[in-house]
Amino acid sequence: MSRVALVTGGSRGIGAAISIALKAAGYKVAANYAGNDETARAFTEATGIPTYKWDVSDYAACTAGIARVVDELGPVEVLVNNAGITRDAMFHKMTPENWSAVIDTNLTGLFNMTHPVWTGMRDRNFGRVINISSINGQKGQMGQVNYSASKAGDLGFTKALAQEGAAKGITVNAICPGYIGTEMVRAIPEKVLTERIIPQIPVGRLGEPEEIARCVVFLASDDAGFITGSTISANGGQFFV
Ligand SMILES: NC(=O)c1ccc[n+]([C@@H]2O[C@H](COP(=O)([O-])OP(=O)(O)OC[C@H]3O[C@@H](n4cnc5c(N)ncnc54)[C@H](OP(=O)(O)O)[C@@H]3O)[C@@H](O)[C@H]2O)c1
Repeated sequence: MSRVALVTGGSRGIGAAISIALKAAGYKVAANYAGNDETARAFTEATGIPTYKWDVSDYAACTAGIARVVDELGPVEVLVNNAGITRDAMFHKMTPENWSAVIDTNLTGLFNMTHPVWTGMRDRNFGRVINISSINGQKGQMGQVNYSASKAGDLGFTKALAQEGAAKGITVNAICPGYIGTEMVRAIPEKVLTERIIPQIPVGRLGEPEEIARCVVFLASDDAGFITGSTISANGGQFFV
């Protein structure tokens, strides 16, 4: 029986690549998304992967959404917490709304999504939780105090929960992508990308979503059973921890 994998924000960007790679590796995949129905519909049409709409910052919505996935596909054995947003501003201009939106989605979203599947993973003595953090959670980034704090929080969440899951066959790991060529990064002005960001990446290019997806497939596999609480930095050599 193939395992069920649930990918938040799995309908576009890095999440879409993760959903596609997990399906290719034999998983039954469910892709969650927030509101972009058009993209989600096109994604399902193109890939055959069902999409489910709910907001990861809303605990009740997560519980209800996960219940639908379980009903239609089976218990969630692999959870990829990928959904994330930016609301960039220099700190002196950052509004409480900028702060809360990012923390609620990028950090509280991990609690909201993982908590409802955790007991089932413990009961079945197997689980994989893979959190997509960011290079900017490791090193900090000006203009992203909210985002950097949320992504650093994801790493603390990963390390603490890994210790709780270890004896129950559940691994909890994080991936810190560097700059990956998705809409989130393409939204950065071309001049800033080519003159300021790419020169800081030793391999000389943006990463591809598929390069992150391959890390996820590995961490989800039985082969990765001894790896927990760890962080894979996939950033083209831009930052070493
Ligand atoms: N791109 C990069 O260079 C980069 C680097 C480091 C880390 N990351 C991290 O990698 C992850 C994916 O980034 P990306 O660039 O692929 O992002 P993206 O292209 O902007 O896609 C974001 C995905 O998350 C979903 N989403 C956003 N808020 C949500 C919410 N509240 N509830 C449910 N789904 C939500 C979106 O759904 P809709 O389509 O409905 O909006 C979309 O599917 C994020 O956590 C990001 O922080 C990205």
